[in-house]
Amino acid sequence: MTIKSPREIKLMKEAGHINFLAHQEMEKYMKPGITTKEIDKHIYDFVTNLGGYPSCLGYEGFPGSACISINDEVVHGIPSSRKLKNGDIVKLDFTVRKAGYESDMTRTYLIGEVKPRIKQMVLDTEAALYEGLKVLKPGARIGDIGHAISTYAHEHGLSVVEALVGHGIGTDMHEDPEVPNFGEKDTGIVLKEGMVLAIEPMLNLGTKEVVMLDDGWTIVTEDGSPSAHFEHTVAITKDGYEILTGE
Ligand code: MF3
Ligand code: CO
Ligand code: CO
Repeated sequence: MTIKSPREIKLMKEAGHINFLAHQEMEKYMKPGITTKEIDKHIYDFVTNLGGYPSCLGYEGFPGSACISINDEVVHGIPSSRKLKNGDIVKLDFTVRKAGYESDMTRTYLIGEVKPRIKQMVLDTEAALYEGLKVLKPGARIGDIGHAISTYAHEHGLSVVEALVGHGIGTDMHEDPEVPNFGEKDTGIVLKEGMVLAIEPMLNLGTKEVVMLDDGWTIVTEDGSPSAHFEHTVAITKDGYEILTGE
């Protein structure tokens, strides 16, 4: 795992800012009736217009600029002619590369009127991400992150997907270390100033178990229950952390 210099972190923040702006734009853009392919094209256009590249496109053969996953789809949904409907929850997960550095950000969006319990899951999943971020500082350990996230998730009646994890990030989208959303305090590698991590809880209303569809990409909950996902790219600083996928 690599320690990034202040110069590298500044570049990652530029990529991350484009990622953040694209998410803001998509919040306004998404409406019932829009297809996930239209969403994908809008993300491609928006990110490239700002000088970034949506680096999911072509990553291990992935056919879209963004992973667009609806309701029981947890991650890696492929853009298609499927239309958004009132009451859906939609996860947009995409990376932006700029000047050789990656950023990774996910948000779960509510389309129209979403059932209260599902809306609450989405709010609680975002809160769980921030619970994970709060522990970040030099000297903290990877297990502290997953412990904070999973404790919060379980207190709020949600299960934690264990088959998929967060990760280091830099010139590559996926670098060491893995960052599980479950774990024990005081275990795992020790965090150091200059590490950059993508923290990304995926929380389900039903079982934590997931399965892959025949398309070879889309991961869904085994019981068909809805799933929410939030992700930020963050740098460990002298006394805490800084979100790179922000304003
Ligand atoms: N952004 C995803 C993550 O959070 C990775 C997507 S890889 C792709 O790690 F190929 F599906 F785009
Ligand atoms: Co991501
Ligand atoms: Co990620």
